[in-house]
Amino acid sequence: VVDAAHINARMDAFEQSFPNAVRAYAAKAFLVPALAAAVAERGWWLDVVSAGEARLALEMGVPAEHLIVHGNYKTPDEVLLAVVRGAGRVVVDHPAEVTQLAEAARLHDREVDVLLRLNVDIDVETHPKVRTAGSDVHFGMVVSEAASAVRAATGPVHLRGVHLHLGSQLRDPDVYPAAMEAVAEFVEVHRAAFPDVVDLDVGGGMAVPYVRSDPVVPVGDYAAAIERGAYEAERMIGPVRILIEPGRAIVANAGVTVYRIGVRKPGPEGVPFLAVDGGISDNPRPALYGAEYEAVLARRADEPHDHPFRVVGRHCETGDTVVPHAWLPADADHGELLVVPATGAYGFSMASRYNLVSRPPVIFVESGRERVVVERDDSLPGLGA
Ligand SMILES: Cc1ncc(COP(=O)(O)O)c(C=O)c1O
Repeated sequence: VVDAAHINARMDAFEQSFPNAVRAYAAKAFLVPALAAAVAERGWWLDVVSAGEARLALEMGVPAEHLIVHGNYKTPDEVLLAVVRGAGRVVVDHPAEVTQLAEAARLHDREVDVLLRLNVDIDVETHPKVRTAGSDVHFGMVVSEAASAVRAATGPVHLRGVHLHLGSQLRDPDVYPAAMEAVAEFVEVHRAAFPDVVDLDVGGGMAVPYVRSDPVVPVGDYAAAIERGAYEAERMIGPVRILIEPGRAIVANAGVTVYRIGVRKPGPEGVPFLAVDGGISDNPRPALYGAEYEAVLARRADEPHDHPFRVVGRHCETGDTVVPHAWLPADADHGELLVVPATGAYGFSMASRYNLVSRPPVIFVESGRERVVVERDDSLPGLGA
């Protein structure tokens, strides 16, 4: 269940804090038609990683020139789509991609505007599985690879700037200026190959609170740090245009997942298990990253939630945890609705049909009204609905 007003408020906050940047929403966090339509209406750009995301965006009115096409492996069809539809920017992740783009562009008589994704090896504090900077990470190019991509970018491929994305849940805004300086050094070396105004895309990664003890980092703090980074970059390489790609920071706190408790059974050290009608299939983050959430009983929210529980899913995995350290009323039991807040990002978008459970619907609520924006999917693979 998604609070549409919250998404709007977050987009407002980014518009106020980053008035001069190109604001792109990272579709991977959560993309449904209603959200793509809002992105189009506000004139935001959209960061897409697959033909599926791109097609949904185009269908909902996001112009092709507002698409930033990402991916460490773009299929030939995806390269073609980006070139033929005229994506605003294609982010090159490895040097051979420049050749692929050039071939497609020549074949279809098009021009392509690209950013080079650099992997800058700076210290980034976040969960290792969502850190995308450093030599053990398979995204982007180190300086020597990026240099050969610069040399390859000729003919119909136009170098417009550089891209970096350091990772997700970056609670320290100061990592942005540090990384921006590193990529500016790269541009400085190859200055003649770049245009007068260089696109400097700093990616997403702005952090959100998942549990009450998590810090809240204001959007303005990121804006101030990125502005400092831009200032330093401009001293080195001349005018830059900043692009940002927040995902989680727009939608994470807008969504809650509503489960039904099906089973209560004794657990270790007196902490009972509660099994709910979902789990790793609607939110794999606890299993993937040990992500923490909180839980609340929907109809007893004002009662003391002071008894420890372990909320688990219904799938055939011991790692299928929903809320590893939940606090609920002591008598919480089967039949009750359990709500997990802060599930708006990387839940629905990572959902699967594991064990052929149905994929839950998505419901937007706004001004006291609800609308189903995605129907429950309980089709049978190979057999259909
Ligand atoms: C290139 C790029 N941009 C933006 C994002 C969005 O990150 P976040 O949701 O943390 O803002 C990601 C996330 O993986 C990404 O890979």
